[in-house]
Amino acid sequence: MTDLVAVARSLFGEGKGLLAADESVHTATTRLASFGIPAGAEMRRQFRELFIGAEGIERYLSGVILFPESLTEKGDDKKPFPKSLATRGILPGVKVDLGLEPIAASPQEFITNGLIGLPERLAEYKKQGAVFSKWRAAFRIDGDTLPSAEAMHENAKRLASYAKEAQTAGLVPILEPEVLYEGTHSRQRSRAAMAQVFQILFSVLDEHAVDCAGMVLKTSMALSGNDSGKRDTPEEVALDTLGSLLEHVPRQIAGVMFLSGGQTPDQATENLAAISGRAKEIDAPWPLTFSYARALQEEALALWKGKEENVSAAREAFLARLAKVSATLSA
Ligand code: G3H
Repeated sequence: MTDLVAVARSLFGEGKGLLAADESVHTATTRLASFGIPAGAEMRRQFRELFIGAEGIERYLSGVILFPESLTEKGDDKKPFPKSLATRGILPGVKVDLGLEPIAASPQEFITNGLIGLPERLAEYKKQGAVFSKWRAAFRIDGDTLPSAEAMHENAKRLASYAKEAQTAGLVPILEPEVLYEGTHSRQRSRAAMAQVFQILFSVLDEHAVDCAGMVLKTSMALSGNDSGKRDTPEEVALDTLGSLLEHVPRQIAGVMFLSGGQTPDQATENLAAISGRAKEIDAPWPLTFSYARALQEEALALWKGKEENVSAAREAFLARLAKVSATLSA
């Protein structure tokens, strides 16, 4: 039987974190298009290969989250991506939710789909080499009205059902209740929304008897909305992010990882450095790390442009960013 606690903890190795390479087909297509790269199945494979095939990533990465199609794709080394990662000591994981859908009664908000057929898909992903999994819920802030109680409760129930199924299947669950950066809200409002989401989530997880020691929380940082006109200092972000986590996140969970959420690579690096530094000062109860997509990939994608001749410059930029982000954990 898989030792879920040991696998979950091993995602938090010294100075190591995750690359979230699990963009859906739609998101990957849009992301590539924003860099002028035409998409299609082979271009998406090359996009994954750009990062997964980079030499030396094992110095900084404990895991990579893949989109299901990448579990069976092969890198340029002819090995399936999960195998290529595993041989370098990097744990392969998979995004298992099926994406967001507007809530009928509150169409600005979302519910995450994917529970139907989940046990069968988890069993298949496990056979294909995944050892952990991820489910994302997203919460929009609007004044004091959103996120609504309905959105928080329904998403918490689905996150809990997912976590139970993943643990039963022997895959560590990463629960990602993302409080979105989009909006005009203040950092304090973001902190309060995160705290509310955590409070509801962990009480529902308790009701569903999810084993907290064998799960990971992936969260946003407490930030002023990207249309607020306010740029928070890293110290402010650290204070409010850890404040919301300390209020409601049990010490038993295997650890907390942060998403970048649309911050620039520098912002995501500086904020993580402040969070990590403050967590050490206050002796926070869980290990912390990164699980970034955009903040790790953006600079490399801008150089790559979908062209073979740019691969080595793009990988160099990716490794340089990985080194900076990883250094924030040991500073
Ligand atoms: O679901 C979102 C990813 O896991 C993290 O992506 O770092 O670009 O926010 P991001």
